[in-house]
Amino acid sequence: MIVCSCNLLTEADIRSALRQPNGPDCACEVYAALGCSQDCGGCAGSIACMVEEARLANLCAVAPAAKKAA
Ligand code: FES
Repeated sequence: MIVCSCNLLTEADIRSALRQPNGPDCACEVYAALGCSQDCGGCAGSIACMVEEARLANLCAVAPAAKKAA
């Protein structure tokens, strides 16, 4: 599914960028990681939500490991 029609970024493109080590922490970094920049901004909210989802998923993935180490 196309999320950013200006840059033809798909949901898969964005999620792939977010899975990279030291991946993007905000929408503007997502554009940069995918070799483009924000144009109309219509997708920025959707991309920001995907960034937040990835951040929360990473926290949930790290939390059990942290508990075992304690
Ligand atoms: S839809 Fe993504 S910048 Fe326009």
